[in-house]
Amino acid sequence: MTETRKILVTSALPYANGPIHLGHLVEYIQTDIWSRFQKLRGHECYYVCADDAHGTPIMLRARQDGITPEQLIADTQKHHQADFADFLIGFDNYHSTHSDENRELASSIYLALRDGGHITSRTISQAYDPEAKMFLPDRFIKGTCPKCGAEDQYGDSCEICGATYDTTDLKNPYSVVSGATPIKKDTEHYFFKLGDFKDMLEKWINAGHVQSEISNKLKEWFESGLKDWDISRDAPYWGFQIPDTDDKYFYVWLDAPIGYMASFKNLCDKSELDFDEFWKADSSTELYHFIGKDIAYFHTLFWPAVLDGAGYRTPTKVFCHGFLTVDGAKMSKSRGTFIKARTYLDHLQPEYLRYYYAAKLSSGVDDIDLNLEDFQQRVNTDLVGKFVNIASRVAGFIKKNFNGQLSAQLPRPELYQQMVDAGDSIAEHYENRKYSQTIREIMALADRANEYIAVEEPWAKNKQEGMEQQVHDICTQGINMFRLLCIYLKPILPQTVARAEDFLNCGELSWIDAQQPLLNHSIHPFKALMQRIEQSALDSIVEASKENLQATPQKTEAAAAPVEPIADEIEFDDFAKIDLRIARIVKAEHVEKANKLLRLTLDIGNETREVLAGIKSAYAPEDLQGKLTVMVANLKPRKMKFGTSEGMVLAAGPGGKDLWILNPDEGAQPGMRVK
Ligand code: 2FM
Ligand code: ZN
Repeated sequence: MTETRKILVTSALPYANGPIHLGHLVEYIQTDIWSRFQKLRGHECYYVCADDAHGTPIMLRARQDGITPEQLIADTQKHHQADFADFLIGFDNYHSTHSDENRELASSIYLALRDGGHITSRTISQAYDPEAKMFLPDRFIKGTCPKCGAEDQYGDSCEICGATYDTTDLKNPYSVVSGATPIKKDTEHYFFKLGDFKDMLEKWINAGHVQSEISNKLKEWFESGLKDWDISRDAPYWGFQIPDTDDKYFYVWLDAPIGYMASFKNLCDKSELDFDEFWKADSSTELYHFIGKDIAYFHTLFWPAVLDGAGYRTPTKVFCHGFLTVDGAKMSKSRGTFIKARTYLDHLQPEYLRYYYAAKLSSGVDDIDLNLEDFQQRVNTDLVGKFVNIASRVAGFIKKNFNGQLSAQLPRPELYQQMVDAGDSIAEHYENRKYSQTIREIMALADRANEYIAVEEPWAKNKQEGMEQQVHDICTQGINMFRLLCIYLKPILPQTVARAEDFLNCGELSWIDAQQPLLNHSIHPFKALMQRIEQSALDSIVEASKENLQATPQKTEAAAAPVEPIADEIEFDDFAKIDLRIARIVKAEHVEKANKLLRLTLDIGNETREVLAGIKSAYAPEDLQGKLTVMVANLKPRKMKFGTSEGMVLAAGPGGKDLWILNPDEGAQPGMRVK
């Protein structure tokens, strides 16, 4: 057996202004399985997390709800922790970035960086809302795209044409907070000099601390230069005040990752653990951060540089994962696939999802898809049909014929040993986060166990004279094969395996227990360990997710935005130039790598057009196929990042899922001019 490792594991800290949904859970389940696996192997492993409780969105959300930020974050944290607990996420500690530990650590880290000469300050000009009397982050400014003229676009990129630009380039900008036109205002900001850490970061990145996909991305970032990082925000801001300033606050992303340390510090203060042993510069312990690919920049550049600059150790590895799609598309509130953790839990057991995510997860950064039909089938086939079935096929004989006592020997010790040997490769896949391969191998073993029982037919032998010993041995072999699978599946199915441990009367199983089969041992009566997923539960989840939307409208920024002002008048002749046509959507498909676009093939009577439409947030391709809509047919073809668009379909709404394409009544014919 290898030496005991000392491991600290984290998942990204969820923002304290929204509920946990199935997208978040990819990461928490992935990390939890890994942490449970390490513990099962006998290592000393701590899994910590916290709510990410600072920043403008939280401040504004609290204001909107008429409560203090403290109330909002306390309430949200309560819900987050209940959701995590019910999904069996076994944190060793859960804390908040709005905590004493984090304030102290953030301040001392900042001072160390400042004293080391890594902080600079300069005056910058920033968008300011003169009505709300606050500086505006980019996402709180909307306006007209400077490139294609699409209205109601965010401050940094256009959902319609994909252009990226500076907020200052937006036409007719307005503040999402008050509706006022932002003005420019000078303000002094503090910056972290990331460039000071160029050599250190280059070395760190080349030393295998990140996945290859990420190191490739990092090379691009290096080439475009390591710019100073703006770490301060002006009042009013919800966060920690920067030491030695009157009205400057740490930008939320400065103190968020420090929240990993703060949560661990909080754990240390409640236990015998030594904080410094895990965080000192030359620590021999291991530190792993699980994150989504969207926040790689923060964790693989800023974070190691900040740690190094302040005299702490850097992460052993940063593991990035992809995003979740549901039934092949981005989660959608209108389709009922934006599923909150709680909505799921109201209808289904957490382990079904833990198993399904594990079956889909690899060590890469690819997105994973939750296909609801496949989910149901996979869980029912693998867990109920294969895994649990092994025990239920043999347990009854042990109880009835042998008084719950296992026999003294295995009839096929070599088969048992093969399954023990397979544990090495299963463990390697767990360690490398190749959970889909872990599952494949475990299920192959389950197939072997079921085949063994099917061939041996204990139920037939049970009816024959003189076969008592054989039946006893066969069933003992079956129970022991089931026990091995319990060990292997324990990181994924902790609750079911806890029930199985009770049935097996064997105490808490560890990886090492695989070596010795259970013989001459008394087990408890078998109770059903798992039920099938019924279609009705899935239907209810989708339905309830739709209802969520109607019953409690989400306070999105779009919903809070004022009705857009009517644009400047135009001459009738200008309007008459626009040739609007009825179009039939004959095909709708996803555009690879595009977050917002669908590719539509439109029939407009005597020709077809390919149009890239920024409506993916509101429609799945299958919702659109066959529908009528209206397009601008004489718009010059436009080259966009993902191809050329030959026109534009008309849609209305503030954005996100609240976007509706025009949908003329059937009877209108493709090609008809709209007058
Ligand atoms: O992206 C997010 O949801 C952030 N709240 C993650 C923070 S992770 C860590 F740095 F705190
Ligand atoms: Zn645009």
